[in-house]
Amino acid sequence: MKFGIIVGSMQNDSGSAKVGRYCAEQLQANGHSSYTLDLGANPLPMWDNSIWKGDEDWKATLGPISDELESCEGFVVISPEYNGMVPAALKNFFLCFGNKVLGHKPAHIVAVSAGIGGSYPIAELRMRSYKNCRICFTPEHTIVRHVGSVLNTGGKNDTEQQQRTVERLDYGLDVLAEYTKGLAGVRASGVIDHERFGNGM
Ligand SMILES: Cc1cc2nc3c(=O)[nH]c(=O)nc-3n(C[C@H](O)[C@H](O)[C@H](O)COP(=O)(O)O)c2cc1C
Repeated sequence: MKFGIIVGSMQNDSGSAKVGRYCAEQLQANGHSSYTLDLGANPLPMWDNSIWKGDEDWKATLGPISDELESCEGFVVISPEYNGMVPAALKNFFLCFGNKVLGHKPAHIVAVSAGIGGSYPIAELRMRSYKNCRICFTPEHTIVRHVGSVLNTGGKNDTEQQQRTVERLDYGLDVLAEYTKGLAGVRASGVIDHERFGNGM
């Protein structure tokens, strides 16, 4: 199966990107493929209403990404905590890409913090980021705390934190893969009707 990895940081070479690389490697080790959209390394322009008027520049920017996302059956949504919030870049992602590419596909949320934060983005994503796009966040999520001390190649990791982080990420990705199989049936069922309920119920 193919998975999309959305790196929600607004920094180039971020802690979240490092987590994304680990997820890509782990998915590959499990026989899957992945596409990573790193919003820090390759920022999307901020949404404006010319998108809805069919602006050609927007089409050229979003079209290739949209094709990649559409071919993904499940997602890993990685959000650092910025001042206790989901970064604007990730909110912008959910404005730019909707139910056509994300709808009724499962996603494992990973929150990232340099310290002991990370709970707020989980709560915010679960509360406010699925309604129109219909992404389905799985019940499991991972909080990567002390991101500087884990998932480093070359051995500079805190052993205890590393074990805790990897255990949870691996389990979260395994659960995601099973939800991905299950939700394919929902999308194929013919029941989904985004025409009647375009903005959610
Ligand atoms: C603008 C900004 C705000 C931040 N606010 C928080 C915060 O509220 N809580 C927290 O635990 N870490 C916070 N951090 C630190 C991040 O946890 C740290 O940068 C970590 O590496 C994850 O972000 P990154 O993926 O952008 O690197 C903040 C970082 C930035 C750049």
